[in-house]
Amino acid sequence: MDGNSPLRPQDFPALKNDTFLRAARGEETEYTPVWCMRQAGRYLPEFRETRAAQDFFATCRSPKMCCELTLQPLRRFPLDAAIIFSDILVVPQALGMEVVMVPGKGPTFPEPLKEVEDLLKLRQKVDVSEELGYVFQAITLTRHSLEGKVPLIGFSGAPWTLMSYMIEGGGSNTMAKAKRWLYRHPEASHRLLQLLRDVIVEYLVGQVAAGAQALQLFESHAGHLGPEQFREFALPYIRAIAKHVKNKLQAEALPPVPMIVFAKDAHYALEELAQAGYEVIGLDWTIQPQAARERTGHRVTLQGNLDPCALYAPKEKIGELVKRMLEGFGTQRYIANLGHGLYPDMSPEHVGAFVEAVHTHSRHLRTPD
Ligand code: CP3
Repeated sequence: MDGNSPLRPQDFPALKNDTFLRAARGEETEYTPVWCMRQAGRYLPEFRETRAAQDFFATCRSPKMCCELTLQPLRRFPLDAAIIFSDILVVPQALGMEVVMVPGKGPTFPEPLKEVEDLLKLRQKVDVSEELGYVFQAITLTRHSLEGKVPLIGFSGAPWTLMSYMIEGGGSNTMAKAKRWLYRHPEASHRLLQLLRDVIVEYLVGQVAAGAQALQLFESHAGHLGPEQFREFALPYIRAIAKHVKNKLQAEALPPVPMIVFAKDAHYALEELAQAGYEVIGLDWTIQPQAARERTGHRVTLQGNLDPCALYAPKEKIGELVKRMLEGFGTQRYIANLGHGLYPDMSPEHVGAFVEAVHTHSRHLRTPD
């Protein structure tokens, strides 16, 4: 038996809806595919119910729970992709750091990196399958459980964003502690970023081996860097990750998968990001669709970028905003999404209105009557 055991990354069900993958690869699609960052989240009552049972990172370590949470939004909305339920902070945990989820406060590191010497406390060699095997198992189980409905996206935080959490110890308005490292300890900063880069490359390749069909790299804290620091401390690592992941996938005879980079608030670097080796550039809502298109040319697919807060608007208004966004991006080489994740107080009904508006208007734009 066991040819299609839910925990074996083989004999996956055939993919029925490849619209998202085709758009990501720059192929033609008959409508605009759509998914939402944080589509598995607290705005769903069923998510709150499942999550209430245990601690956040215990949930992340349970492949069964991750699978269930990943599938929940797909039962409600005709989304064109699933994203594995997990968190970017599992990578600092794999490096040996403790991270706890404090309700009302968010993720917290009881012992953040303070001095350069603290780098020695990190595991310098990480056995990624050992430390993060639970994510791989969650991906394999979810890919089987999806029954080929839509593709499954894997993800990781990017080096600068993870470094900033590891030094700040949690959320921060200024990132002053982490940026202090960049200005005062540039060499040690590069050492940490390189360590993260190497773990992230193995982690992403492992996700593809486990069944992920696309990968998204979250550089959520890019906006705290200016163009100069982005060029020095973020972009080289973002580039290296695309290059090394692709080389390794090829060397290990794994399928090539489209890669998405979402560098929030980094529109100053859009031209450079478009040439960083990613098929798709994720955009936040602070850039106009036409401007993003002009600045990236037709080399890449764009993804985004409705202001998540637009979902607080009445449903008809959401429809109008979606229509304008689709007109701005055009019908091809485009994946609709929000410009950042959904918030816990958002209405599932309005999320449904967003998804439906993308499908309806994007078909209409292709065959106007
Ligand atoms: O998008 C998805 O649906 C997939 C799952 C996903 C989660 N976190 C689940 C989660 C993804 C892709 C992430 C990535 C992540 N985690 C990022 C990058 C994306 C971004 O938002 O910029 C970041 C910065 C984190 C760190 C993190 N984890 C934060 C800031 C929080 C919120 C804390 C809070 O209390 O508001 C988390 C917790 C978290 N990760 C939740 C979810 C659904 C909510 C907490 C819960 O379920 O109890």
